[in-house]
Amino acid sequence: MLLLRRCQRLTGCGCLTPQRAQASPAAALSAVRLASGSSHDQRSEHPGHSPSWRQALAGLLAGTGAVLAYGLHHHKAEQTDGISVHAKAQTSPLPIFSQEEVTKHRTLQDGVWVTYKGSVYDITEFVTMHPGGDKILLAAGGALEPFWALYAVHNQEHVLDILSEYKVGELKAEDQKKQQNLTSSDPYSSDPERHPVLRVNSLKPFNAEPPPEILSDSYITPSAFFFKRNHLPVPQVDPASYELQVEGLPGGVLRLSLEDLKSRFPKHTLTATLQCAGNRRSEMNTVKQVKGLNWGIAAISNATWGGARLRDVLQAAGYSPDVAQWARHVQFEGLDKDLTGTTYGASIPLNKAVSEEGDVLLAYEMNGEALPADHGFPVRVVVPGTVGARNVKWLSKITVSAEESSSHWQQNDYKGFSPATDWDTVDFKSAPAIQELPVQSAITTPTDGTVISRSSEELTVKGYAWSGGGREVVRVDVSLDGGKTWQVAQLRVSDKGQDPEVSPPPGRAWAWKLWELTAPLPPEAHQLEIVCKAVDNSYNMQPDTVAPIWNLRGVLSNAWHRVKVKISDDEE
Ligand code: MTE
Repeated sequence: MLLLRRCQRLTGCGCLTPQRAQASPAAALSAVRLASGSSHDQRSEHPGHSPSWRQALAGLLAGTGAVLAYGLHHHKAEQTDGISVHAKAQTSPLPIFSQEEVTKHRTLQDGVWVTYKGSVYDITEFVTMHPGGDKILLAAGGALEPFWALYAVHNQEHVLDILSEYKVGELKAEDQKKQQNLTSSDPYSSDPERHPVLRVNSLKPFNAEPPPEILSDSYITPSAFFFKRNHLPVPQVDPASYELQVEGLPGGVLRLSLEDLKSRFPKHTLTATLQCAGNRRSEMNTVKQVKGLNWGIAAISNATWGGARLRDVLQAAGYSPDVAQWARHVQFEGLDKDLTGTTYGASIPLNKAVSEEGDVLLAYEMNGEALPADHGFPVRVVVPGTVGARNVKWLSKITVSAEESSSHWQQNDYKGFSPATDWDTVDFKSAPAIQELPVQSAITTPTDGTVISRSSEELTVKGYAWSGGGREVVRVDVSLDGGKTWQVAQLRVSDKGQDPEVSPPPGRAWAWKLWELTAPLPPEAHQLEIVCKAVDNSYNMQPDTVAPIWNLRGVLSNAWHRVKVKISDDEE
């Protein structure tokens, strides 16, 4: 009864929920009957229920953070009356199936069953109703574990709770044993070694940032410390057989080996900062929880990249200004794939790709060495001034097109929304894909909570500043009193200090500026709130607080950065 009431509250209708359907042995048996024959029950008739389980399971299989987050949001809402679906499923007297029986359910006609950790689930409706649900057919009749291993980044507890609504039985003990042997392979087992100093946000896929203090120690971030943002396992690529395909131009398909790329096109080098759209997401979480990896201030780094210009390669493939009459985008595809074979992809506007001032590189070198595996070996695209997500690693294909990339990461992620938009109302089609990023700065040292001895008399504050689209940071203001009074920091554009000769050409300021301010410690203060804000050459400035720019995916977080430190009277 409780469950029925909840359904009315959430959706305004009186139909039975899936939880209700499994609340009694009879209902459990009817679920079994369903699975072996008809794939139709009350669940599929009621669109009001669909987002939670459909989206969450889609997240499980498609590995899409936003989609999963959407599902989890709904799921949480459904749990507010304190009913644990998990607990119910565990107490249901469900039948035992052999693997052979499970394997018979691999089509919509026969029902779609999967197993996970010894339980059997009928997910026929999921496949019928979810637009991308057909992908799950790859797992049909078998184990979810390999998929789960691939998407280990997701919150397993919540998704399992949702999955448990579809539990129809247990797997025979001996078949469970056999399965364990089959499913123990880890798609991340060939991922490269990483430096232990990195702060890991997720291990599989690997996502990590350096400690902020390290960032401002060196204008060029050593590759080992450069933040790493992977959506999937790192692909192992043989440089000898590597091939880059360029399509969509009048010259037909151009195929280039790594050697071709190095020998047929002039090598250009470029110092450019990459920043993840989710950099500083953790500050958004202080306003209201967002969905995504909890990045601190160091999902940003600066490197010198070497490679062929994309523009030169497109010209070799037949690009001429006529192409711009019909083409608008250049799409990129990586070699990293999920279990369904879907690869990472993104696109950028054609004019950025072909303009001489766009400086887009097909990079095979990072900081003077071959690209490391984590950063796209053997070739990645470096789109300076543009959000990290478009800098596709392990590049396999370039397509000139009238359309944007259809990839999930171009269409349904990495977009900005109003603080008013939530997971119930979000329409990813309504917002443009993020390309150029807004002006940004942060304090790398001291870090929050540092205790400074009064006897040191002065304080040095350091940080980074950068703006997207080649806009140059022209000033960084620093406050030691929470923004009441300000001082101007010194900017640094190389490790040698401020050098006008290395100032970038207008509109092509791709690299960050490090900044520094040394100021006397305010004599009376016991605590300081240090704040920084940057200004770029379009006089764009950072917003003072994060609440008005909060968005459900926690992207574009660029409010004034604030760090609190204590001043101690103890002698050093
Ligand atoms: N390219 C591929 N093929 N796969 C990915 O997961 N992640 C993107 C982008 N390119 C990604 C990719 C994202 S979201 C970012 S922020 C940058 O790579 C991170 O680059 P890095 O790991 O070299 O710092």
